[in-house]
Amino acid sequence: METVEDARAMRSWTRARRTSGETVGFVPTMGCLHRGHLSLISIARARCDRVVVSIYVNETQFAPGEDFEAYPRKMAEDLEACRSAGVDCVFVPRAMYPGKEEPAHETYVDVEILSKGLCAQTRPHFFRGVATVVTKLFNVVEPDVAVFGKKDYQQWRVIRRMTRDLNFAIEIVGGDIVREEDGLAMSSRNLLLTLEKRAEATVINRSLREAKALAERQPTACGVLVDAVTQAINGGGGVVDYVQVMEPESLTPYEGNVSSPCVIAVAAKFGSVRLLDNIEIMCE
Ligand code: PAJ
Repeated sequence: METVEDARAMRSWTRARRTSGETVGFVPTMGCLHRGHLSLISIARARCDRVVVSIYVNETQFAPGEDFEAYPRKMAEDLEACRSAGVDCVFVPRAMYPGKEEPAHETYVDVEILSKGLCAQTRPHFFRGVATVVTKLFNVVEPDVAVFGKKDYQQWRVIRRMTRDLNFAIEIVGGDIVREEDGLAMSSRNLLLTLEKRAEATVINRSLREAKALAERQPTACGVLVDAVTQAINGGGGVVDYVQVMEPESLTPYEGNVSSPCVIAVAAKFGSVRLLDNIEIMCE
């Protein structure tokens, strides 16, 4: 496994593989890797001859006062996990944005509609930061396939739309949510939970599964599902940021009775840690 820090060296690495007829799969991450990330690496491995993982905690997707400094970092363990997972190359960019002495960065990518609502209500800066850094990573790594987790459902949709709108010749693949045994969606931020909040956070997935079972059993109004999930989480030690029943592709809020496939997405804080989860509802 190679570790590459320089953008030019990274691009040459991929180009050499592609010249010899190999395909390259890419999994962008912010490190502190867990089984969720590893599942995306296996998807990339199954589809491509070579796999590149990037590890970069991207400051532009954090607002001042958010958890950029506290975001967990475990480089040595991450490199070991990548090696064991059969990753061919880890891209650990030394710099993605100019330093203080250099001319400022002034070009950003905005996915105008999908980037509104949901997570953007409390993190309005977030998707511009993600779309811009993923564009930069795509331009440096030049993969054939890139894999993103559906845990971050809005992010996944934003990246797919951006890839289509900007004509990137990259296939975007979505990986299913990987969970802890008690149902909590795996996240690097789970490490920041206190023991008490970690135990309480299991209510997120429990309440989503109950809502799904109800909606798939009988025609149910969206409002009923939203209220049930909100009350369960707020009553179980969390503070709901949003619960939304939405159309899977456009993410527009669903109205009335749930009668076709949709997604219930949740963001909630447990202590100071903001967690995301979602569940797909398969109605006829
Ligand atoms: P990060 O949070 O490290 O996540 C990297 C990828 O792993 C994302 O595509 C995310 O959706 C996926 N992932 C995280 N937890 C998962 C789980 N439990 N099951 C399945 N997939 C999971 O998301 C980011 O980094 C950044 O925003 C990034 C795209 C790298 C841009 O900076």
